[in-house]
Amino acid sequence: MTLEAVSKSYDKIPVLKNISFHIKPGERVSLLGPGGCGKSTVLKILLGLTPPDQGAVQLMDRDMVAASEREKQETLRKVGMAFQQGGLFDFMTVEENLTFAMEHMTDMSVDEMSQKIEALLKTVKLTRTRRMFPHELSGGMKRRIGIARALATDPVVSIFDEPTSGLDPVTSTIILNMIHELGTQTETGAQLVATSSVEIAIRFAERLILINEGEVVADGSWKDLILNSTDWVKHFLSVRLIGIDIEYARELGLPDEFIRQHWKL
Ligand SMILES: Nc1ncnc2c1ncn2[C@@H]1O[C@H](COP(=O)(O)OP(=O)(O)OP(=O)(O)O)[C@@H](O)[C@H]1O
Ligand SMILES: [Mg+2]
Repeated sequence: MTLEAVSKSYDKIPVLKNISFHIKPGERVSLLGPGGCGKSTVLKILLGLTPPDQGAVQLMDRDMVAASEREKQETLRKVGMAFQQGGLFDFMTVEENLTFAMEHMTDMSVDEMSQKIEALLKTVKLTRTRRMFPHELSGGMKRRIGIARALATDPVVSIFDEPTSGLDPVTSTIILNMIHELGTQTETGAQLVATSSVEIAIRFAERLILINEGEVVADGSWKDLILNSTDWVKHFLSVRLIGIDIEYARELGLPDEFIRQHWKL
């Protein structure tokens, strides 16, 4: 997946300014940045849902700017996407929502789809919701079903926009584990999570692309960035972590040097 010098304005107000990054097959990456910095816009441009004003976009070797609608659809069949707003169809049950995605994006038989639904719901511990409608589910349950749906089609690339925002820590952990376990971690697959939570970003992936006001301000291993980067980046990452318990800081894998600097040992 590649964005090269991508810019985008809405009503002459720049939202993305010259964004470039490349994600290799097999990589797992967190796209981090404060609310409104442009994360969802990056994802929509990457998926070809929104055209950039300038720049090049490649998704699995497809030029998503030049591609026809049919070509885009063909590429998107191999992509699992969980939208920020959940995006389940309100008039369909959980089972129907999952089946709809698989019918449109895979060649699975009816039996295969049914087995897949059973297995996915078991993993997300929501087997009893199979015949329920979205309005009968809590926010966290809907989010888990949205993620199950994104993964139901065995996508090569999977993308999750704010998969845990507004959810309690236990549900957030279930969701992160789910993405890790169910995501196709093949040599060609790649996973991308957009979030404004530093904690979620560093728990999800080693590589961090940090966006601020529509610009990439850092791209690299968070363990490096937290110690060696600009003051703004170090500050952004550290202020959101130094309140946590030291045991948890160690569990997250924060570098010893960082712990020594901030926990006054
Ligand atoms: N379709 C649109 N029309 C006009 N402005 C838009 C549109 N989509 C996004 N924007 C503006 O672009 C900016 C970036 O929005 P975006 O949703 O990409 O940010 P975000 O980083 O995903 O934010 P959040 O963390 O709240 O999800 C915002 O100022 C938003 O108002
Ligand atoms: Mg967003």
